[in-house]
Amino acid sequence: MARISGRPENRKPLGEMSSMQSLQINGKSSWFSSKLEVRKSETHGKGVFAKSRIIAGERVVIFGGDVMAIDEIDDLPSRLQQYPMQIEERFVLGRRGTAKPEPADFFNHSCEPNCGFKGQIFLVAMRSIRIGEEVTFDYGMVVSESVSSDIVFEMDCRCKTQRCRKIITENDWKLKMLQQKYKGFFSQYLQEKIAALQRSRR
Ligand SMILES: C[S@@+](CC[C@H](N)C(=O)[O-])C[C@H]1O[C@@H](n2cnc3c(N)ncnc32)[C@H](O)[C@@H]1O
Ligand SMILES: [Zn+2]
Repeated sequence: MARISGRPENRKPLGEMSSMQSLQINGKSSWFSSKLEVRKSETHGKGVFAKSRIIAGERVVIFGGDVMAIDEIDDLPSRLQQYPMQIEERFVLGRRGTAKPEPADFFNHSCEPNCGFKGQIFLVAMRSIRIGEEVTFDYGMVVSESVSSDIVFEMDCRCKTQRCRKIITENDWKLKMLQQKYKGFFSQYLQEKIAALQRSRR
């Protein structure tokens, strides 16, 4: 795609770009807010935590990676198989071969999450997030039954929240309770599937 540079008069001098630092992605394929860090989690392995206060609506991550068919997950090295994130019925964003997981790969699931999706790859805070809080989303916001693949998503949840669903499945997006709770925060492709389901019920 050809891209022309913006007119100089429309460009801001560097000094005005207060968040220039946080725009760097340092050779990674995802953008990860400088307000976040990865460390050990009580829920599972490593997780993502807030090291500065995050306000409601703030973007925390832009997910990137290799677009793969869901079936390709089976061909990945086992150390990479837990990280791909579904972006459509047939596709995930993941990392192939010798790649290492990036900070953006370490978001754990919570049944009482503080983040949700805008589009398919932007993760935003659904409420303000305190320093030290684990930053999570509900995997039910992105996962659905994959078309033409034998891979089934099911996970025993250890989020320990009061409303923990205990087992997270690829059918959770169909739960009316979650459709209400996460309205506007499902991955776009699921938001559209939900709208179609609701139209068909009328
Ligand atoms: C994208 S990784 C998250 C990072 C992971 N904690 C790590 O250290 O690599 C997804 C995996 O983390 C684990 N996980 C995430 N949230 C969980 C939860 N609420 N309960 C149990 N396991 C969880 C599951 O094994 C899942 O397949
Ligand atoms: Zn849970």
